[in-house]
Amino acid sequence: MFSEKDFIFNTTTFEINKGSFQWSAPSNIALVKYWGKKEHQIPANPSISFTLNQCKTITKLSFERKNTSTALSETKKNFSFDLLFEGKPKVDFKPKIQKFFERIEVYCPYLKHYHFIIDTENTFPHSSGIASSASGMAALAMNIMSLEKALNPEMTKEYFTQKASFLARLGSGSACRSIKGNVVVWGKHTGINGSSDLFGIEFAEKIHQNFKNYQDTILLVDKGEKQVSSTVGHDLMHNHPFAKQRFEQAHTNLSSIKKVLENGNIEEFIKIVESEALTLHAMMMTSMPYFILMKPNTLEIINRIWKFRAETKTPVCFTLDAGANVHVLYPENDREHILQFIKDELIGFCQNANYICDTIGNGAIQIL
Ligand code: PMV
Repeated sequence: MFSEKDFIFNTTTFEINKGSFQWSAPSNIALVKYWGKKEHQIPANPSISFTLNQCKTITKLSFERKNTSTALSETKKNFSFDLLFEGKPKVDFKPKIQKFFERIEVYCPYLKHYHFIIDTENTFPHSSGIASSASGMAALAMNIMSLEKALNPEMTKEYFTQKASFLARLGSGSACRSIKGNVVVWGKHTGINGSSDLFGIEFAEKIHQNFKNYQDTILLVDKGEKQVSSTVGHDLMHNHPFAKQRFEQAHTNLSSIKKVLENGNIEEFIKIVESEALTLHAMMMTSMPYFILMKPNTLEIINRIWKFRAETKTPVCFTLDAGANVHVLYPENDREHILQFIKDELIGFCQNANYICDTIGNGAIQIL
């Protein structure tokens, strides 16, 4: 079992002066939601997600050692990095990266010895309302681990991915679920061997054929800035009147969905996933201060999905993240039929008729 201490890099000499890596990492969509955290990005309850395939961040990390004559143990004063978004300098993103570097410094003491150029872009539009923090932090964490692997070539593959997920978590909690595919569990759960609050692990059981290439069509209902950030939302779970019951429910739902993913019971899958989405938003509506992130069109879409499902017996369902967009989940076999329904009945509720077709994916990929 890994503990925080195992992720501290403690070599004092190193030979890498200059180089670059490039990784892509996908977004992920939670089936059992993470909402509420303790200190140091420790989740209040375990969660499970589908890794996505199309919605990705691609990040190139170029690095050059600041002063080649100094040993690694010698402390440097500041982090030094330039940030480019779609090839242009983007100062607004710098504070988030600065904070991320500060949080992971104890585990990656070599960071202050390099100047970095972080060149990043997303495959989905920046203003789509799709959070880029999960894919962005995962892609950056993979690049940092490539540098660490260059400094410590003995490192095992297992350690590489677990530390990448551990670092990504410190950037943005759900990012730790964006390293691997197809299904990832994050958070200690008695029914899942090896599960940890510190990093995400691949769901180890054989996933039923019914969930193979599962589809996620993301309906972009509202592209605006969220009125309440996830950070504030997580915080409001402290002293929330229903927090204890909610955290217990997440454990129960994780046990149930584990069985469902193995036995292929889509009816049960739908019940758990939709209940989780509505519970997440119910937590927002019942916190103090309370808030609503769904929009009228979010509810229109949900009602249309329910009506279509009742009338056609097609196993389509929805989930939500912390925003107004709707993720429509369905089996690959029903793709044509459901895409037609989406085009005929749902895209009218999307901003500028925008939606993204995605599927379950395999996690981060090294490009360079
Ligand atoms: O990783 P954060 O802090 O942005 O939180 C994400 C929370 C949800 O997307 C609402 C749920 C989840 O488990 O991804």
